[in-house]
Amino acid sequence: YEIYLNGLSGAVPRLPADPSRLEALVEQRLGAGPAGYMIGAAGTGSTARANRAALDRWRIVPRMLRDVAERDLSGELFGRRLPAPLALAPVGILKIAHPDAEPAAARAAAARGVPYVLSSASSTPMERVAEAMGDAERWFQLYWPKDREVARSFLARARAAGYSALFVTLDTPLLSWRPRDLDQAYLPFLHGVGTANYFSDPAFRAGLAKPVEEDREAAVRHFLGMFSDAGKTWPDLAFLREHWDGPIVLKGVLHPDDARAAADAGMDGVVVSNHGGRQVAGAVAAADALPGVAAAAGDRLTVLFDSGIRTGDDVFKALALGARAVLLGRPYVYGLALDGQAGVDHVIRSVLAELDLTLALSGHADPASPGPADLVREAL
Ligand code: FNR
Repeated sequence: YEIYLNGLSGAVPRLPADPSRLEALVEQRLGAGPAGYMIGAAGTGSTARANRAALDRWRIVPRMLRDVAERDLSGELFGRRLPAPLALAPVGILKIAHPDAEPAAARAAAARGVPYVLSSASSTPMERVAEAMGDAERWFQLYWPKDREVARSFLARARAAGYSALFVTLDTPLLSWRPRDLDQAYLPFLHGVGTANYFSDPAFRAGLAKPVEEDREAAVRHFLGMFSDAGKTWPDLAFLREHWDGPIVLKGVLHPDDARAAADAGMDGVVVSNHGGRQVAGAVAAADALPGVAAAAGDRLTVLFDSGIRTGDDVFKALALGARAVLLGRPYVYGLALDGQAGVDHVIRSVLAELDLTLALSGHADPASPGPADLVREAL
């Protein structure tokens, strides 16, 4: 009721509550390059649309008279108590959204106790983001570099800077076909904001003929050549297991057999994700892949979910379909673009408030309660 009570003295929120209006504002206010990069998707955008359509097709069947007066969104994940089943997804190069970039998003997450997943392609070195977060929960996302020394260096830096879990993104061995970026000839790594995480890395710098400052283009080419590795296979995961002693989560798993392979390789979790529809054009909607992966994972893996989450009821549906928690992608980036740290806070609070209301109004007092029987699927 806080917003309505403030409204009595004429104050209305600075940002809209409806995520599609946030997106429209970003489209208007940011340049064509950055807006296209953030909002855009692979191919015709059909995967991104399918993510939304799949979530929309599931409908919640509310239950009545179940005492929801006291509710608790908290739960345990990777041995830690979290205030809600929500974390901020790794999103690279946030300087194109707002000059305060990753530290602002990380501070907003830390203030609410929501874990922040830092992208290895961040525009701020990981140590500076860690400083901004104090001892709040943070996880590190790795695009698995071709160069072993750089991989080892990233893992050592992340460990030393207090990142407790490692998210390895598997769906980006190459950047996909993204028409909006192609039409603008826009790739943010090349447009002055760079990827400070790499450029500040001693092992990365050791591979350059000239310092980054003297030959930026060569540094960018070096980055593009090594930032990800299309040659990796399942046995390579042993390298990560050897160099990281905390939880390892594979991001971008959509097939039940890949979930089984992850468990067999000693991984701790998977993120069911199609990268927000940004990688495989025509890919299965993430929500449609979730039940199969959750069944294959059983109790061997912690299953997380992203791609298409915009509202509290989306989070409810993902939980009911078998996710333990979700990652929020574009919406917080839009919040950051429009109002810095306060904008990210607005988005986190809105999603969590709506999740709390959706649970209560559907007859559930906590996020572990919804299951497949609480949803029905609309016929097409
Ligand atoms: C991403 N995503 C991403 N994922 C990752 O593992 N490392 C990264 O650096 C990035 N960078 C990135 C940039 C931008 C602009 C977007 C929109 C997304 C994918 C991200 O973590 C997540 O999977 C999706 O954003 C989830 O989908 P929604 O919530 O955006 O629909």
